[in-house]
Amino acid sequence: MKILFTNIQELVQIRDSSVEKVSGKEMNILPTLKNAWLLINNEKIEDFGEMNALPEINVEKTIDLTGRIVLPTWCDSHTHLVYAGNREQEFADRISGLTYEEIANRGGGILNSAKTLENTSEEDVYEQSAQRLKEVMSLGTGAIEIKSGYGLKKEGELKLLRVIQKLKEEFDLPIKATFLGAHALPTEYKAKRKEYINYVIEEILPQVVDQKLAEYIDIFCEQGYFDVDDTNTLLAAAKKLGLQAKIHVNQFHAIGGVQAGVENGALSVDHLEVMRPEDIECLKNSKTIPVALPGCSLFLSIPYTPGREIIDAGLPLALATDYNPGSAPSGNMNLVVSLACIKMNMTPEEAINAATINGAYAMELSTTHGSITKGKSANFIITEPIPSYAYLPYSFGSNKIASVYINGNILN
Ligand code: NIG
Ligand code: FE
Repeated sequence: MKILFTNIQELVQIRDSSVEKVSGKEMNILPTLKNAWLLINNEKIEDFGEMNALPEINVEKTIDLTGRIVLPTWCDSHTHLVYAGNREQEFADRISGLTYEEIANRGGGILNSAKTLENTSEEDVYEQSAQRLKEVMSLGTGAIEIKSGYGLKKEGELKLLRVIQKLKEEFDLPIKATFLGAHALPTEYKAKRKEYINYVIEEILPQVVDQKLAEYIDIFCEQGYFDVDDTNTLLAAAKKLGLQAKIHVNQFHAIGGVQAGVENGALSVDHLEVMRPEDIECLKNSKTIPVALPGCSLFLSIPYTPGREIIDAGLPLALATDYNPGSAPSGNMNLVVSLACIKMNMTPEEAINAATINGAYAMELSTTHGSITKGKSANFIITEPIPSYAYLPYSFGSNKIASVYINGNILN
């Protein structure tokens, strides 16, 4: 079906198909058309232009969007959306004075979620996760990455990855799956870290690959979790089997994770709350994109990724939610875009680029998603009547999305 959208106050993030990501100063440029029209043909964007040059087009339906802004759907390149239960008790414990680290050390945190997962049926995990996915789609997310990581042992990890697989089958948006078996040490492997990495490589990874359950490999490279040596070992093994890396680094400590990511050809290095000058330096001239997760900084009261420094160094930056039960229990990309502006000193243009085209790049989706481009998927957000696109991050915490289109279909 051909649908023509007319009188769009501003059509945001219009790009040529050659743009795969934007870096440095380019991030402050957000190409738009004012008083525009947009034509979609079934699941694809067919054309767009200015109202004063609207050609004669035969369409099944015309929708007037006076006063409204249209922008591509958000590309959330880092989530742990598939999990069981919640951890609001740990949230309360942190308010009462315990730290995230102290909670983890006494068996809470990731191990707590792993225990809940074990006691929850695969069907139930699917239902809980599908609910979250529906919610984030209604908030404008139109492409998403989801990690395993709360199974830890083989059965649990494969269970999570099968749930992601089922979400891929049931939902109409692109979903990229990442295998994060090396998220924390299960209790049985306490003080046996190397054995656990071997177990992940020998017992779980081949099954993940054989069953085609993941596109990417991840590891939590952090003091008290896994070190650079573990990271190199795992990434090299995964690469041999065709899995590229997207890794957790520099969340609490800078231990060389960024370097390990770049050296192993990672698609992205994510978190980066703690960055040394050499970490920024080593990202230059690499294809690895840094990803900031400001929802996690807000929720854990930890530093925000120095996005300003990263962009000023000429690098690209993507924004994602990190949606998970422990450090960021929100998958709301609108809030993430607001936080990037308010707390990371990014301009609305930079934040929107980081949450769309650069997010798409961080999932290898920028040829089909992340911008309003002829031939790309018709995935876009229509706002309520608002004065400008900057009003989106400005009106933080309020939902200004009127409707969301995925592959040319309106979400109901
Ligand atoms: O990205 N840092 C590692 N993993 C998750 C949090 C895991 C949890 O607390 O459940 C993160 O923040
Ligand atoms: Fe994460």
